[in-house]
Amino acid sequence: MSRAIAILGSTGSIGRSALDVVDRMGGAFRVAALAAGSNLEALAGQIEKYRPRLVSVGARRDAERIRGLARRSGASVAWGPEGAAEVARTEGADTVVAAITGMSGFAPTLEAVKAGRRVALANKESLVVGGALLRREAARSGARIIPVDSEHSGVFQCLAGIERRHLRRVILTASGGPFLKTPLAELRRKTAAEALRHPRWVMGRKVTVDSATMMNKGLELIEARWLFDLEPSELEVLVHPQCAVHALVETADGSLLAQLGPADMRLPIQYALTWPERRDSGLARLDLGALRKLEFRPVDERRYPLFPLARRALREGGSLPVALNAANEVAVAAFLEGRIAFPGLHAVVAAVVEPHRPRPADSIEAIRDIDAEARREARRALPRR
Ligand SMILES: NC(=O)c1ccc[n+]([C@@H]2O[C@H](COP(=O)([O-])OP(=O)(O)OC[C@H]3O[C@@H](n4cnc5c(N)ncnc54)[C@H](OP(=O)(O)O)[C@@H]3O)[C@@H](O)[C@H]2O)c1
Repeated sequence: MSRAIAILGSTGSIGRSALDVVDRMGGAFRVAALAAGSNLEALAGQIEKYRPRLVSVGARRDAERIRGLARRSGASVAWGPEGAAEVARTEGADTVVAAITGMSGFAPTLEAVKAGRRVALANKESLVVGGALLRREAARSGARIIPVDSEHSGVFQCLAGIERRHLRRVILTASGGPFLKTPLAELRRKTAAEALRHPRWVMGRKVTVDSATMMNKGLELIEARWLFDLEPSELEVLVHPQCAVHALVETADGSLLAQLGPADMRLPIQYALTWPERRDSGLARLDLGALRKLEFRPVDERRYPLFPLARRALREGGSLPVALNAANEVAVAAFLEGRIAFPGLHAVVAAVVEPHRPRPADSIEAIRDIDAEARREARRALPRR
């Protein structure tokens, strides 16, 4: 019998890769529901191909535009945050791929968790802003959150069979992004187009800019803290430009376990969908002989000044990760629009995070308030139009 899945963010980089995995799994999965933002052309193709029962788009106007095609394919149409939440709760879908970018992905991810689904989680920002809440709701509903981020999938795989008391630390690897070797003095001239040219991964725009600043790795540390119940002191990052080792786990006796694989998101997506099974995906395998060398080095905080801000948010918790994430979303959008230069990403986030005194953030209302307040502060730190 095939398993029904719902995909939040089906038109994005992860969403499209998830559908490719569905294609490769020979009928093991069927698509029950899809949520997208505004890419109607891509969504229309997905509706015709996968015949979901329910689709959702970001805006009401777009829902009207796609209604005729959806009706002919037997799908009902919803829109906005409530539409995405409906997709997350779709009756009969036991797995939800959570791949909407940023804070917008949080509420639908929470819905999927509350509904007790298996959540294949790509939207790391959900755990950054609401890790404690998501864990509490998962414990209540029986939902299982399985990581899609390649580093966290690596940790998840390394931890299989390791008792918590035997675990000493977890190391996430980072590619270093496109500016790993750029002379520091030249960073201020780097444009959005250059930041979007990632050396190893093809991803959505927001996560690609986050990789260039290393904010992505900071968010991933907070994500790992909640996924694996780790103390901040148990989490480390090493820059590893080859992106072959995704994560390492060190045990009490000093043994290091590593997970390796090609830089292809379809592998961790597939594992999140088939876990605990493993299936042949037909994807290219890692050729270790061709790699020749594996390098690891610590994070240079002068090159990546957002990274220590994220580490502070990891240590202090509460409202700080929410504020960090909100300020970063505002800064990345401004950088992509050409409103601020590359160093402005740090300046905007620092303007919000440095004076922030953490307070509790344990309900969706509190999280939304802190998010909105930090966005206002971040916008005030932007240059006037
Ligand atoms: N890409 C990767 O390799 C990768 C790896 C690890 C983790 N992640 C994480 O996975 C998430 C998705 O990343 P991505 O690279 O796939 O991003 P992306 O290519 O930008 O795709 C984002 C998806 O979310 C949809 N979306 C955006 N805002 C929405 C809203 N308000 N309501 C409904 N749908 C909305 C977009 O729809 P439209 O395009 O139709 O507007 C699109 O389908 C991020 O949290 C990222 O950090 C990505």
